[in-house]
Amino acid sequence: MKTVTLLDKKFKLCINGVQVKTAIDHLADRINSDYRDKEILFIAVLNGSFMFAAELVRKVKPLCRISFVKIASYQGDTSDGVVRELIGLKEDLNGRHVILVEDIVDTGFTFEHMMTQIKTKYKPASVAIATLLFKPQSYRKSLPVDYVGLEIPNDFVVGWGLDYSGYGRNLEDIYTIA
Ligand code: IMP
Repeated sequence: MKTVTLLDKKFKLCINGVQVKTAIDHLADRINSDYRDKEILFIAVLNGSFMFAAELVRKVKPLCRISFVKIASYQGDTSDGVVRELIGLKEDLNGRHVILVEDIVDTGFTFEHMMTQIKTKYKPASVAIATLLFKPQSYRKSLPVDYVGLEIPNDFVVGWGLDYSGYGRNLEDIYTIA
């Protein structure tokens, strides 16, 4: 079994890079068909989405642009106690077909906050999300997660942009805690 050690934790291989690329191809096919005659504005959420975003947009056929944002998290008055603010968004989203690009949707709190902020500030023609990974067992929201690469169990994973304390983003397979 292929393993990697990052800081104090050992991780074992759970999804190889070929399976990840195949899943992204299928996701891109769906986007290509759904947005055939539309222009897409991808908003990729750093840091985790950089590898997925690069692989995805290479496979997308409709006219598109991509922009990168960050999430600033701080303690505040929300249901899970954390305020997540989208920073660095310079694009005008009014009238655009927006697809948020995320590395993973876990509880869904981050995704819901981003959707709320976008819909409060702008009037986009449509907003969807494309996420490389989705943990359905830990999802606590009701918003549909439109484009999912792979569904995974509720375990911590690294690789393909996802990190453990900043490490492991470069791994070309996905690993889970051993
Ligand atoms: P949510 O708000 O609970 O959906 O969490 C989303 C964020 O938590 C992601 O963008 C990741 O930064 C982080 N995250 C959740 N699960 C994992 C994991 O298994 N590995 C690495 N980061 C994770």
